[in-house]
Amino acid sequence: MVEKEDLLKDGKRRDGRGLTDLRPLRINAGVLKKANGSALVEWGKNKVLAGVYGPREVFPKHMTDPYRAIIAARYIMAPFSGIEEHGRSGPNRRSTEISKVVKNVFQNAILTDQFPGTMIEIQMEVLQSDGGTRVAAITAAAVALADAGIPMRDIPVGLSAGKVNGEILIDLDKYEDNLGQSDMPTVILPRTGEILLSQLDGMLTREEISKAFDLILEHSKIVSEKQEAALIERYRKVSEEIGEGEANDSG
Ligand code: CDP
Repeated sequence: MVEKEDLLKDGKRRDGRGLTDLRPLRINAGVLKKANGSALVEWGKNKVLAGVYGPREVFPKHMTDPYRAIIAARYIMAPFSGIEEHGRSGPNRRSTEISKVVKNVFQNAILTDQFPGTMIEIQMEVLQSDGGTRVAAITAAAVALADAGIPMRDIPVGLSAGKVNGEILIDLDKYEDNLGQSDMPTVILPRTGEILLSQLDGMLTREEISKAFDLILEHSKIVSEKQEAALIERYRKVSEEIGEGEANDSG
């Protein structure tokens, strides 16, 4: 059993991180063959897969918007993703809420007016969870959308900060989230620092919120660089494949 007192000892967290260290983050783009865009994010013990389909025909048809693309988003936890005291997996009030906030985030990031009368579908599957899955899912979905070639104002970054035993820290894991005092999952556009989403579980003072935002803004650069690196690597692989194809055609 992890107790509240175990979360911070001499400025170190249970996994050895300092207050302002992120968990190890690995991002891969283009991991699914059949999706238009995809990404796998492994962030600490979290593993989230995102797939994007579209722009495509709207279903159901009456939802069509003649001026812009509509966004559909679905966040779901796999039954084996680490559900403990939280009960069953599958669609529930929590996953419905997260799907809704993800939809709002991307409605404000995607240049939807470039694809009138269509639909862009974002699917996020949490394969393994350890706190911060909604921000990991948004970080993955952002890369999947870029991989699908869907234009956005910037590639959104999801990151959370919070309060544990009186200290403000970044990138809370499950125990810090569950036993800590507060968690503030946030989504920003890293280039401008524009906030697309900020949720707050628990209480923070005005000063603490400001400190948490500063930490998020600073560390979002690290996440953003990983997203870009994943996309560059994806394009490198695709151009290699095209190159090989051309070589085979001419040979
Ligand atoms: O994952 P995130 O922090 O965005 O959402 P949360 O609702 O604050 O949940 C925190 C953590 O509790 C999740 O990341 C999971 O590790 C765990 N959880 C779970 O195992 N089963 C659920 N049904 C809900 C949460």
